[in-house]
Amino acid sequence: MFKFLSAILCLGLVGACAPAAQDKTVGLESTPDSKLTYVGNRVGHFGFGQDATQVQIAAWDIDVRPDGQGLPVGRGSVEDGEFLYEQQCAECHGSFGEGVGRYPALAGGEGSLSDARPSKTVGSYWPYTSTLFDYIYRAMPFTQPVSLSADETYALTAYVLYLNDLVDDDLVLDQDNLASIRLPNEVNFAPDPRPDVANTRCMQNCRDPSLIRIVSEVVSDAPTTLPVTERVAVQSQPHPGAATYDQFCSICHNVGVGGAPQLDDAVAWDQRLSNGVDMLVSNAINGMTSVNGVMPPKGGFIHLSDEQVKSAVLYMVEGSF
Ligand code: HEC
Ligand code: HEC
Repeated sequence: MFKFLSAILCLGLVGACAPAAQDKTVGLESTPDSKLTYVGNRVGHFGFGQDATQVQIAAWDIDVRPDGQGLPVGRGSVEDGEFLYEQQCAECHGSFGEGVGRYPALAGGEGSLSDARPSKTVGSYWPYTSTLFDYIYRAMPFTQPVSLSADETYALTAYVLYLNDLVDDDLVLDQDNLASIRLPNEVNFAPDPRPDVANTRCMQNCRDPSLIRIVSEVVSDAPTTLPVTERVAVQSQPHPGAATYDQFCSICHNVGVGGAPQLDDAVAWDQRLSNGVDMLVSNAINGMTSVNGVMPPKGGFIHLSDEQVKSAVLYMVEGSF
C-alpha cells in the first residue's frame, strides 16, 4: 500500500520522490506516545521547505482585535489622511467616500440598514474601528495590498472615520486611542448563540474520527473530466498574455470586481470589441471610466510595459470565446 501511494505522489513530484522517501533524518516522526514531532529543521515528509523564522511569522501576524491588541506602534492625523486618501483611494472610493461606479462606498448610509437596499458602510454597518485599520493595512489600495506603513494606515483610518462624521478634523490616531473610538452599529452585533458555532474541543471519549466523513454536493464537471493527455496539451502551450493576466488582471476580471467585464463573458467582450481591439488595448493601458465602472491605467500596475498589457488583453479577448 505505501509503495503504491508513493508511486502516485512521485507522478506529481518528479525528481523529489526518491531521495525524500529514503531521508529518515528529516520530517515527521511518530513517538511512542503517538504525538508527531518535527525532526531537523525541514518540515514534512518530502525533505523540502523550512521552518518559518520569527521575523517571517511577524510579517504575517498583523491582525488587530477590537480592544486594540495587535496594533502596530504609530500615529497619523486626519489631515495627513486626507492627502493620502486623495492620492491613493479617491480614484475608486470617491473624494467623500461615496464610491465611484461599483467600487464600495466607505461613508454614508446611516439609518439605511432596515431599508430594502441598505447601504452598508464603515459608518453605517461596521462594528469596530480595529476592523477598519486591519482591512486597510492588509488589503488596500486594492492593487497594492500591504504597501502602506503603520503611520499611513493610522492617518487613512482617521480620515475614513472623519468622512463618516465620527471624529473631529484635529484627531491624531495612534495605537492607544484607536480602540476607544466606537462605531455606531457595534450594538447591533451580538455573539452567535447557536450551539454548533461555539463547540468546545473534545479531549476525551470523543467520536471515532474514522466515522466522520466530509460530504460535498458540489459537482464539478469540465476541466477535471478531460482526459489527462488533453490537460497536458492545454497546459504546455500557455497564451503569452496568460501570466500577466493571472498575476495582475484576474483579481478584478475573474469575478467582475467594480464592474470589470469577466474573462468568460462572451457577450460583454463582443460589445466592447465593436470599437476594435486597438481601442480595448488603449483603454487598458490608459485606463477608462464609464457607467460600468473604473478601469485604472494598466489595472493599477503602472510598471507593466504596454506590450505586457496588450498581450493580456489579447488573452482576455481570445479567452472569452
Ligand atoms: C483600484 C480600486 C481601489 C483603490 C485604489 C482602493 N480600493 Fe478600497 N476597495 C476596492 C474594492 C474593489 C473593494 C472591495 C473588495 C472586496 O469586497 O473584496 C474595496 C474595499 C475597501 C474597504 C472595505 C469596504 C467595505 O465596506 O467592505 C475599505 C475600508 C477600503 N477599500 C479602503 C481603501 C483605502 C483606505 C484605500 C486607499 C489606501 C483604498 N481602499 C484604495 C477598490 C479600491
Ligand atoms: C482594479 C480592478 C481592475 C484591474 C486590476 C484590471 N481591470 Fe480591466 N477593467 C476594470 C473595470 C471596472 C473595467 C470596466 C471599465 C468600464 O467599462 O468603464 C475594466 C475594463 C477593461 C477592458 C475593457 C476596455 C474597453 O475598452 O471596454 C480591458 C481590455 C481591460 N479592462 C483589461 C485589463 C488588463 C489587461 C488588466 C491587467 C493588466 C486589467 N484590465 C486589470 C477593472 C480592472
